[in-house]
Amino acid sequence: MAVSFPKCPSSPLPPLQTRNRAWSSPPLQVGDSSKWALLEATKRCHLCVSATNGGSAVAPVEPSKKVQDSGTKTTPTDHSTKVENGIRPTVFSSNEFQDLKTGPDNSGRESTVSITVVGASGDLAKKKIFPALFALYYEGFLPKHFTIFGYARSKMTDSELREMVSRTLNCRIDQRENCDAKMEEFLKRCFYHSGQYDSEAHFIELDKKLKHHEGSRISNRLYYLSIPPNIFLDVVKCTSLAASSENGWTRVIVEKPFGRDAESSASLTRGLKQYLHEDQIFRIDHYLGKELVENLSVLRFSNLVFEPLWSRQYIRNVQIIFSEDFGTEGRGGYFDSYGIIRDIMQNHLLQIVALFAMETPTSLEAEDIRNEKVKVLRSMKTLEIDDVVIGQYKSHTRGGVVYPGYTDDKTVPNDSLTPTFAAAALFINNARWDGVPFLMKAGKALHTKRAEIRVQFRHVPGNLYKKCFGTDLDRATNELVIRVQPDEAIYLKINNKIPGLGMRLDRSNLNLHYAARYSKEIPCAYERLLLDAIEGERRLFIRSDELDAAWALFTPLLKDLEEKRIAPELYPYGSRGPVGAHYLAAKYNVRWGDLGAEH
Ligand code: NDP
Ligand code: BG6
Repeated sequence: MAVSFPKCPSSPLPPLQTRNRAWSSPPLQVGDSSKWALLEATKRCHLCVSATNGGSAVAPVEPSKKVQDSGTKTTPTDHSTKVENGIRPTVFSSNEFQDLKTGPDNSGRESTVSITVVGASGDLAKKKIFPALFALYYEGFLPKHFTIFGYARSKMTDSELREMVSRTLNCRIDQRENCDAKMEEFLKRCFYHSGQYDSEAHFIELDKKLKHHEGSRISNRLYYLSIPPNIFLDVVKCTSLAASSENGWTRVIVEKPFGRDAESSASLTRGLKQYLHEDQIFRIDHYLGKELVENLSVLRFSNLVFEPLWSRQYIRNVQIIFSEDFGTEGRGGYFDSYGIIRDIMQNHLLQIVALFAMETPTSLEAEDIRNEKVKVLRSMKTLEIDDVVIGQYKSHTRGGVVYPGYTDDKTVPNDSLTPTFAAAALFINNARWDGVPFLMKAGKALHTKRAEIRVQFRHVPGNLYKKCFGTDLDRATNELVIRVQPDEAIYLKINNKIPGLGMRLDRSNLNLHYAARYSKEIPCAYERLLLDAIEGERRLFIRSDELDAAWALFTPLLKDLEEKRIAPELYPYGSRGPVGAHYLAAKYNVRWGDLGAEH
């Protein structure tokens, strides 16, 4: 079958982007755009890390738990480094750098990375994973030797997979020069294997194909589980027993949802750990890969003006707001057994709270950051039903167009009580945040698509200009807004004198608008996270104790809502959501920041 390539308008090729990540790599020289320079920089940084660990010997390579020729499984050995005072020092394997470089190791052998997308026929694989892999390839971030495999039950040939990938290319790269030529090169590295998810025999076939491509090189294997959660364990078992690397690393990216509650999540983790070590499991929360979420810590810890204000003393409340202007279209079947609290709040929004509120980590190492995040989660007050409002969108007609209600979806039961909207007030019971409401709001089929963090500061004590603000002092307080998407921006609302002879004040924005400030496109979150997984960087992935703490917060509430069959408040498709959300905020003297004039 002929492969058709997407049309790429000709435009001058911008300079190849370097991956200058403040958290893990020392800055590259301006203009030094080579990926090898980048990898060397990464290596230097990690070597420094090793030195700070007392120059200890490198950690062993992740174990392979593959069935041996004898047919017996090797017992997974705990090769994790010693945990002292809850802090696990990170020691990097020299092989990891070797793997990335894919040049010869000490024995003269090169290495290769095989990326297998399990569930390759699915929505996520088409929409996000393949485009992200292509973007990484285009930008020169994939190692020299790599192969991509799609695995699913659907029957497909290699060329059909290639056609699917080329057809669904919707990443930022499709506007670039040479896109079709690069795409052609990329597709040559893509293959497909059809098989059942619970068949070791089918994974043995996959293993043979992978070996064929890996040749005599050191093999490193990354599996991306882009499949429904009920088959995670089958796949992990089969990959581990039949298709893990024998001489390099094997890592598994697991998509959410990680369970439905504390018990199912713990049982999933136990199941995964039968076959994998924690450091082989990369639990993805793609919000952590978003540019402005990653920037949160930079903003706070590397600017003197923010960190001193980052506490109950100066901050009145923090709001984390997620909205989508479309419904569950096409995903109603999945969504109905999860709902918005599990789909968005318990993971994406809670992760933002943890990053926002954590204490200064000892270092930028993954374990140090995750240790601080987990402390925040453990200090939070368990959510109660009185601090939550739920809603569900109903059909609405506007301009002659009928927008369907949630239960109009054929895959959703007519009497479904699953919330498509929720607002919640959370509290962190520690010295820094005691009494400060962290308000979350997440909804589908609302009036706009947006994700933002809003920080509302306290009043200026004894404000000299009080008279200029009228009675509503709240309107005159500073607000810092971090707009995660779309149109990324960070702006601070300040009071300012309107130029002229009188003394009139207004509210203006000190505005860092990314599109105006930076000419570089912002990579998609999946690009960053895939690259991190290939590099073995765990900072942006969820550790199992973080997951446990997150579920501990939400599970009692979720059980309560379900057992009491609490009916969600209906709101029209395309509206601003249920009125109950305003009452919830008002209970804590808060006004939602996204309802101001700017919106
Ligand atoms: P899909 O429902 O499209 O499933 C992916 C593939 O898995 C399908 O193409 C199908 O492949 C196989 N599959 C589907 N249902 C079953 C089943 N009941 N039993 C066995 N195999 C099945 O999922 P998505 O691609 O939407 O999502 C994949 C994962 O990513 C899920 O865990 C989802 O929750 C998560 N996710 C998805 C997002 C999205 O935007 N789609 C966003 C964030 C997370 P085949 O029949 O060919 O084997
Ligand atoms: C996913 C949710 O995790 O995130 C979806 O399952 C949601 O329901 C999506 O639409 C939103 O991601 P983004 O990156 O488009 O904001």
